[in-house]
Amino acid sequence: MGHSLRAAALLALVVLSVLVSLLITSLKQFGSGSTRLSNSTDQEGLASLRSALDLHLRERRKEILPLLLHPDGDKDRVLEEVLEQNYGLDSSLWNEVSGSGKAHRDQMGCESLLDVRAVEVLGSGYTKLVVKANLAGGQSVALKLVNEQGIDMSKCLEDFKDLQGCRELVSYKLQKEMLLLQRLRHPNVIQLKGHCSGLQGGEGVEGGRVTVIMEQGTPLQMIQLLQTPWEDRFRVCLDLVRLLHFLSWSPLGSVGLLDFQPRQFVIVSGQLKLTDLDDVSTEEPACRTDADCVLQFPHRNFTLPCSSQGVCEGLNEKRNIYNAYRFFFTYLLPHQAPPGLTHLVDHIMNSTGELKANINQTLEAFERILLLYKSGIHLDNLHPSILRDYSVMRDMSTSGNVEYRCWPSYSQQGCVLSVHSAREAAYICNSHSHCSSFSLTGQKTWTGRLLASFRSSFGHLVPEGGSEVYLKKSKVPQPPSS
Ligand SMILES: Nc1ncnc2c1ncn2[C@@H]1O[C@H](COP(=O)(O)OP(=O)(O)O)[C@@H](O)[C@H]1O
Ligand SMILES: [Mg+2]
Repeated sequence: MGHSLRAAALLALVVLSVLVSLLITSLKQFGSGSTRLSNSTDQEGLASLRSALDLHLRERRKEILPLLLHPDGDKDRVLEEVLEQNYGLDSSLWNEVSGSGKAHRDQMGCESLLDVRAVEVLGSGYTKLVVKANLAGGQSVALKLVNEQGIDMSKCLEDFKDLQGCRELVSYKLQKEMLLLQRLRHPNVIQLKGHCSGLQGGEGVEGGRVTVIMEQGTPLQMIQLLQTPWEDRFRVCLDLVRLLHFLSWSPLGSVGLLDFQPRQFVIVSGQLKLTDLDDVSTEEPACRTDADCVLQFPHRNFTLPCSSQGVCEGLNEKRNIYNAYRFFFTYLLPHQAPPGLTHLVDHIMNSTGELKANINQTLEAFERILLLYKSGIHLDNLHPSILRDYSVMRDMSTSGNVEYRCWPSYSQQGCVLSVHSAREAAYICNSHSHCSSFSLTGQKTWTGRLLASFRSSFGHLVPEGGSEVYLKKSKVPQPPSS
């Protein structure tokens, strides 16, 4: 009896809760239905916004499609068909051809982001947010995501009022960048490590949740760079020229960087790397006359020839060279260039600033400077007798030193400069009124030059293998004569 009563009560409770939930659902539907009715014009407005946004989405997909073509991929046939159709690229077909959500075979995928630790913001721009992540194995990587607070998202939201759709639209820029990074692998392009689509909530690219995994660098700080030795500033310029040479002859044709600024680069272990690749052009503009091939800069215009095939030939390369000149070379190259190399530096400044040299010639000129700088040939006019003024102590270093500072020094505390040889160090020491000794410890810079430490006096000598101390004879205190 007690049992059947309890069962009946339970049944009544279940029926009641089902009824209540049905009632709530129908009330909700009624409510939303009436809103829909009263705002039908708004709804129409939203629908037309959505179809305008859809157009943009299709455009972006179409723009990316050629980058998906790979010489030995089985997806090529489907892709080529889609390219030929030139229409109707909806998100499901897109997912099929782009294979979203799946990592490239040799790359990191969503699984490597499962146990992400200690995240900090590395930088952000109009389109992307970049954060640092420490992966489970202890490796540090940079993750690029859609910047929800960026100009691209805000503009899209203002125009289309569709959060999901805008995320998707902006994420195509990330997608494009990732595909370009896959195709344009080079020591001066940031290394792509993998990607994950749909990390949050399992959506594909159409959910706008794409995370690109790449090597981590340090954003380029021009102000800081201006205070570093010429050798390091030259390295940045040389890296840039090597990159531009690669881009001119890339597997995708001549690539022009449309948004060319120092903030699109980072430094990884002293090496310059391009990180922002979503705004590039892989085609030269079509033209009918030379007047169609004008390169415009704020203070300078150049008119290039229109080829017989009707393209502004070399325009991408020339744009890259002039941007390298105006954003990098003018600030980094001439200042404190080694005396024996200034004529070569001046020549580069002239030929790039006037667009007289192509990228091959520019790279040759840079490599020649590097060679001369490394070989020390430019120092031939320093006579070996310069070292006669110094006594050398081998396998020794100094302790209790009195340091003086010079600029730009490799050390904040003292005067540490790079030299080709003891001879060049002696020349520098002679030109510093405070200098009475210098030591070479065997430490080298990226070019293989030696780091020399200059001092105003020294406490005493201590043994140290591989290190040499040079004392300026005229400054060594003489024992009092009796
Ligand atoms: N791999 C990276 N390591 C460290 N910082 C980075 C890296 N990639 C980009 N950044 C920083 O994040 C900023 C934004 O990235 P970027 O790709 O330029 O986005 P946007 O396209 O929005 O300009 C860059 O200006 C740079 O300072
Ligand atoms: Mg950028």
